[in-house]
Amino acid sequence: MAQANPWSAYIDRIREAHTPEALDTLEHELFGRKEGAMTLAMKALKDLDAEGKKQQAQELNTWKKQLTETIAEQRTALLHPSDDALASSDAMDITLSLPPRERGSLHLIPSFMEHAADVFGRMGFDVATGPEVESEEMNFDMLNIPPDHPARDAQDTFWVQGKDKRVLRTHTSPVQIRYMREHKPPLRMICMGKVYRKDADATHSPVFHQLEGLMIGKDVSLANMKAVMVNAVRELLGRDVEYRFRTGYFPFVEPGLEMDIRWQGDEQTREGNWLEVVGCGMVHPNVLKNCGIDVEEGDGVTPRQLNPTWQGFAFGFGIDRLVMIKHQIPSIKMLFEGDMRFLRQF
Ligand code: PHE
Repeated sequence: MAQANPWSAYIDRIREAHTPEALDTLEHELFGRKEGAMTLAMKALKDLDAEGKKQQAQELNTWKKQLTETIAEQRTALLHPSDDALASSDAMDITLSLPPRERGSLHLIPSFMEHAADVFGRMGFDVATGPEVESEEMNFDMLNIPPDHPARDAQDTFWVQGKDKRVLRTHTSPVQIRYMREHKPPLRMICMGKVYRKDADATHSPVFHQLEGLMIGKDVSLANMKAVMVNAVRELLGRDVEYRFRTGYFPFVEPGLEMDIRWQGDEQTREGNWLEVVGCGMVHPNVLKNCGIDVEEGDGVTPRQLNPTWQGFAFGFGIDRLVMIKHQIPSIKMLFEGDMRFLRQF
C-alpha cells in the first residue's frame, strides 16, 4: 500500500481525543456496524483470493486489537487523569501559589521536657507523673517537713479552699512519695510538671516547672548523684559549664546540696556569676520509711558495705531557669505570655 496507513492515523486521533464524546465518535467511525472503516475492511476480505485473504485478515486483526486497546486506554485516562495530565491541562492553574500552611511546634517548655525525658531515659530513668492539686500530707508531711517548720513558709503556698487541706503542689517532690509507694527499689524515676508558689518577679512566676529525680539502690552514693547531675546539666544545656556544689537545706534530704553553674562567653546572661540550678541530696531515711522502704540504722560498727540497705539521691531542677539559660531569655514571663513574636523565634 502506497498511501499512509489509515489505521496508524486512527491511533493518533484516538490519543488526541480529549473528551469521552470525541472518543465515542471515533469508535463509531471505526467499528460502526454499517459504515465503520474496520467493519468495511473486514467485509472486503471476502473478495480476496485465499492467500491474500489470510495475510490481510491477520494484519487487520492486529490493527483491530491495537485500536480497541488504545480506545480503552484513552477512556481510562480521560476518566482518571494522571497528575501529569492535570498539570498540563488548562483546567488547573498551577501557577497559583497558596499561602503557606501554618505549622505548629512545641513550646519551649514541653520541648525541653521531651529532651529531658530522652537524656534521663538513656541513664535508665522512668518518667512518672502526679497531680497538681496535692494533699498537704504528700506535699509536706511525707517529705519530712514538720507542721510548724519554716520550710513550709519558704514555699509560699496556694491553699485550695475546703476542709481537706489541699494545696497546689509547691514542688514535684510529692511524686517521689507516690512513686516509692507504688514501686519497689531499686528504682530510677524523673517527674516533670507545673508547680505553684506565691512569687513573681523577673526570675519567678507563680506557676513554673520542675524536673524531679530519684534514684534508690543499695549502692547509690553521693558520687553517683554528682555524676548524674553533671552529665544531665551538660546534656540539657548542650554545652560545658563550670559547676560547684554547696550545702543547702531541704528537710527531705541529708546531706542536702545545691548545684551552681557558670559559663564563659555568654554576654546576655549573668556571665561569670554562679547561678543555682538544682537542689539535691541523699534521700532522708525518714522519707524512705514513710514509703515503707526498709532502712536499717546500722550498729555504728559494721561497715556499711557489709550490711547494705536502701539509700539514694533525689534532685529538683527548675526547668524554666534552665530554659532561660539555654536560650538566653531575660524574663521568665516571656515563657508564659504566649506572644507569637517571641515564640516563633524558637
Ligand atoms: N523540692 C525542692 C524545691 O522545690 C528541690 C529538691 C528536690 C531538693 C529534691 C532536694 C531534692 O526547692
